[in-house]
Amino acid sequence: MDWSGQRVLVTGGAGFLGANLCHALAGRGAKVTALDGFLFGGGANPTNLDGADVELVRGDIRDIDLRPLCEGAAVIFNLAAQTSHMGGQADPLADIAVNAVAQVRLIQAAREAAPDAIVVHASTRQFYGRVEKLPVDESQPVAPPDANGVSKFAGEQYWMLEHRVRQRPVVSLRLTNCYGPRLRIRDARQTFLGIWIRCVLEDKPFEVWGGEQLRDLTYVDDVTNAFLAAAETPSCHGGIYNIGGSPPASLHDLAELMVRLSGGKAHYTTREFPADRARIDIGSYHADDSAFRAASGWRPMTGLEEGIAKTLDWYRPRLKDYL
Ligand SMILES: NC(=O)c1ccc[n+]([C@@H]2O[C@H](COP(=O)([O-])OP(=O)(O)OC[C@H]3O[C@@H](n4cnc5c(N)ncnc54)[C@H](O)[C@@H]3O)[C@@H](O)[C@H]2O)c1
Repeated sequence: MDWSGQRVLVTGGAGFLGANLCHALAGRGAKVTALDGFLFGGGANPTNLDGADVELVRGDIRDIDLRPLCEGAAVIFNLAAQTSHMGGQADPLADIAVNAVAQVRLIQAAREAAPDAIVVHASTRQFYGRVEKLPVDESQPVAPPDANGVSKFAGEQYWMLEHRVRQRPVVSLRLTNCYGPRLRIRDARQTFLGIWIRCVLEDKPFEVWGGEQLRDLTYVDDVTNAFLAAAETPSCHGGIYNIGGSPPASLHDLAELMVRLSGGKAHYTTREFPADRARIDIGSYHADDSAFRAASGWRPMTGLEEGIAKTLDWYRPRLKDYL
């Protein structure tokens, strides 16, 4: 696909994954509009879009008129979401307002203003819940462990309905934990890795909760490439795909890797999961993403060690912008 001159809307475009995608699209010559409501506690950061030729619209998908933003879009990358699991538990109505109700607003606006636009929706592995069989493919039953999983599943399903009933080309990517430049590292609100990275860079100890859980982390450039490939590959349209990353590693393995990459300076303690988190924890997860690999030719290119090293290097000169 030639992105040059294509109008593209990225919702959640000032957040972690959205901003990285905006940089990639602008670099390919697309005319990018990033819509972001800078939600409290989310990953939005004004500096995330520094250096990218992108129009930033500050607005909330719950109430902004979405039609002018959709007008003429060839592709809509839909990443805006309430992403906090604890936040969703604390206020499920606010969570569903963004992740499900506002998705229907966007669907309706796109029907009027961008009837032919391809939509790539950012979905999540979260709603598989605690799985019994690893790796997890798309046939795994959905059993959301928390309110955020319910709302994200609803949002995805509204988009897939739009494909089935109105033939809109929609692809849903069920992402695993992603990491890399532009991740929120101020605190633990955007994965445990955010706060680990901050602690390593500030020479402070970080906490590992549990430690045996397996994760397959995706480096952000690989996520960006998956979004682009999903839009570019017509045979993917109408599909739901798991996206994995590096081979599974336990949290302890990952913590040891952080220590090694810090030259032995970083250190951590291991503790039990806090009770409120344990209730919604999904245990171990790693994806079977062979369906997306086969359909699109995509595969993750960045190994864990390389990805963590690149991430730490990226933040060192920019740390103050992310605290
Ligand atoms: N990062 C991951 O590991 C991961 C894993 C699974 C799924 N996802 C999905 O990927 C997408 C992007 O996640 P992210 O990690 O970049 O999170 P993020 O918080 O950095 O980005 C989401 C962005 O959406 C914006 N937003 C939220 N509600 C909005 C609203 N009502 N109106 C306008 N903007 C709003 C936020 O301000 C934020 O900038 C989300 O849909 C998330 O569910 C991410």
